[in-house]
Amino acid sequence: MPSKKRRRRGKRLPEEPVEVEITGLSSEGRGIAHIDERTVFVDQALAGERVLFKYTRLSKNIAEGRTVEVLQASDQRVRPKCKAFEMCGGCSLQHMSSEMQVKLKQDMLLDQLKHNGVEPEEVLEPLLGPEFGYRTKARLGVRYVNKKEKVLVGFRERGSSFITDTERCEVLHPSVGEILEELAECINQLEARRTIAQIEVAVGDNQTVLVFRHLEPLVDEDRTILADFCRSRSLVCYLQAGKPDDLELLVPEQVEALHYYLPDRGPDCGPGGEPDMQHGKKFPDLKIEFQPADFTQVNPEINKRMVANSIDFLDLQESDRVLDLFSGLGNFSLAMARHCQQVTAVEGSLVMVKKARDNAALNDIDNVEFIYADLYSDEVLSAPWLKQKYDKILLDPPRSGAAAIIPALKKMQAKAIVYVSCHPATLARDAAVLVNDLGYKLKKAGIMNMFPHTGHVESIAVFEKK
Ligand SMILES: C[S@@+](CC[C@H](N)C(=O)[O-])C[C@H]1O[C@@H](n2cnc3c(N)ncnc32)[C@H](O)[C@@H]1O
Repeated sequence: MPSKKRRRRGKRLPEEPVEVEITGLSSEGRGIAHIDERTVFVDQALAGERVLFKYTRLSKNIAEGRTVEVLQASDQRVRPKCKAFEMCGGCSLQHMSSEMQVKLKQDMLLDQLKHNGVEPEEVLEPLLGPEFGYRTKARLGVRYVNKKEKVLVGFRERGSSFITDTERCEVLHPSVGEILEELAECINQLEARRTIAQIEVAVGDNQTVLVFRHLEPLVDEDRTILADFCRSRSLVCYLQAGKPDDLELLVPEQVEALHYYLPDRGPDCGPGGEPDMQHGKKFPDLKIEFQPADFTQVNPEINKRMVANSIDFLDLQESDRVLDLFSGLGNFSLAMARHCQQVTAVEGSLVMVKKARDNAALNDIDNVEFIYADLYSDEVLSAPWLKQKYDKILLDPPRSGAAAIIPALKKMQAKAIVYVSCHPATLARDAAVLVNDLGYKLKKAGIMNMFPHTGHVESIAVFEKK
């Protein structure tokens, strides 16, 4: 009797592994092979390799599979650090050398730009940072598995809703990545082991926070078990029964807000939080406070360099008026404010706008105006801040890009635009509009390795008025 999965796809999958030569690599890092005029995308296979793979999907023109044995390996293949790599959907590129991962991402960006008819005058050197233990934000799945009679904590398996059975995660910050198994064992002791749905992880410079989402009220004994576990590892523990911002602090009794520091001019410019003119660092480190559910850049080292580079690329002057769109907690806006006359920062989450204002006050910065607006709506087009002139613009939209707001930037005639993107396809689409309709040239573009070992591509593009 075919499984539901097989019936839906309409074709029975061959049981036996198939030997194949991998002739190329897809943009998201899967090996490409051709069998009977059908293109097959093979997980965990590299160009130039011979592998045995098993089909995971088979349709008329396209098929997918997973490598079960490498018969002839590429010299770019490396041993994954993570023991659960083959199963876990958290990373997809750990079998590839770092150089190849970075090249894959850079090629993806440049191909997308070319496909949209724009090419940068200069390709920036990739921005590199730590490759493991970098990830400071995550939502971990929690599941009690009857068959295994235990709780699993981690990311989902590739192409499935099951949680990966893993002891640790190599890309997560070590304060959490190293204790996944202990965390699962702790939850396994709870009466509520079946109704803990997920754990939100947020790591700041001062502490690591775990937010346990529970679907049923917790009995006192469960609260004690969780509190003891977190206290003994100096973790801050919140319980969340309702909305994401509706948190109950379990331990410690009192806690300061999560925060991270942003050094002026990037992490390489002088030690400590104090100004250091010798290293070109004029201001003390910025302190940015946040809540576990707030958007923050997941890789702090890359973030520091990305913000400092953006200020350099914009060539900020003391007389500049700057527009920061999709400004979040003020990550770019507050750093830029110290190097220019005025920043107008626009963000679509009212909660974040309020926190950004608090962050400005915390850092004694009074030349940023934080404005709440939906940058994808038509109403925003009549907003007074859009009628003003700005010398420089910074854009940092979500994956869907900034297509709705870009035409409205035409009248501003800004000299330079820096566009930070987490999705090369929408960056390339928007770049074509900036170049063809708004009269900009694409001076520089490059990738930033914000998410090593995963398929996510973070990039930056610098536009100048022709
Ligand atoms: C990639 S994040 C960048 C945040 C900030 N620049 C930073 O570096 O932390 C994108 C931001 O866009 C905001 N956003 C999402 N949809 C939006 C919309 N329709 N209008 C305005 N802002 C939006 C999100 O709340 C988020 O803060």
